[in-house]
Amino acid sequence: MSTRMFDLTGKSTVVTGGASGIGEAVVRRFLAAGAKVLVLDITDSGAEVESWGAAFRKTDVSDLSDLESALDHAIGLHGGLDVMVNNAGIALHRPLSEVEPERNTQMFRVNAQGVIYGMAAAAARMGAGGAIVNTASASGISGVAGLVEYGATKGAVVAATLNAAMELGPRGIRVNSVCPGLVRTPLAIRSASRLGKSGHMIAALERPAQPEEIAAVIHFLASDDASYVTGQSIAVDGGWTSGTTTKTVDAANP
Ligand SMILES: NC(=O)c1ccc[n+]([C@@H]2O[C@H](COP(=O)([O-])OP(=O)(O)OC[C@H]3O[C@@H](n4cnc5c(N)ncnc54)[C@H](O)[C@@H]3O)[C@@H](O)[C@H]2O)c1
Repeated sequence: MSTRMFDLTGKSTVVTGGASGIGEAVVRRFLAAGAKVLVLDITDSGAEVESWGAAFRKTDVSDLSDLESALDHAIGLHGGLDVMVNNAGIALHRPLSEVEPERNTQMFRVNAQGVIYGMAAAAARMGAGGAIVNTASASGISGVAGLVEYGATKGAVVAATLNAAMELGPRGIRVNSVCPGLVRTPLAIRSASRLGKSGHMIAALERPAQPEEIAAVIHFLASDDASYVTGQSIAVDGGWTSGTTTKTVDAANP
């Protein structure tokens, strides 16, 4: 094992949803740690991502065959697949009184099926020492009014992580998740304004996270420093799931 902390030198890594927010912060950390990075994202931000030093391929994570060919592309580019970060997600939720099937299905397709497809496609292409990290949410392990649909997709990620860890452990592949609380990204800002609130309730630290604070834990879980950690969903939520507070915060304005 390398003596450099969280070293990813020469590792072939793939980050879904890597063009923005938490994914972007992961990509920048991975590059700084020496990894080769392929970003898979549904946006057309290839030129920007490539300017950071990563490769880019437009991919829809809710389409298994699209993901499979994207991972074959990663192997062609970087000579293998060591780390898969299933981070892409959308937040289209409404309160229960406004649930609408098409939007609900789309959110499950991207947030839950997209992660399962990402794990399946990656596991078929990884060897011993491989690491998969999924982005779940604090709303997948703790309740928040208004987040029923979104939280359910993220609870599915937590359950999928547990079960995949059991299936892939004997092959030497680790599977973990992070459960972020409120993180200052475009997704959170859109979601808060749609719910008509200035922000969600958060706990202990009384502030939203910066994307880099989530990326740091994803980086740890992806690295060999976490070689005995698998099946875990780690809350990176400033204490949101540790207790309660009456403080509300604005996702856009600290
Ligand atoms: N921001 C928060 O407060 C928060 C909290 C908990 C969990 N999360 C989760 O973190 C992850 C990253 O979100 P973020 O806050 O950085 O949001 P973001 O909107 O900044 O980034 C999400 C990225 O995913 C991409 N994407 C969306 N649908 C896709 C698809 N079908 N295929 C490929 N790419 C797709 C988007 O284009 C975007 O680049 C998501 O899974 C989100 O649910 C965010």
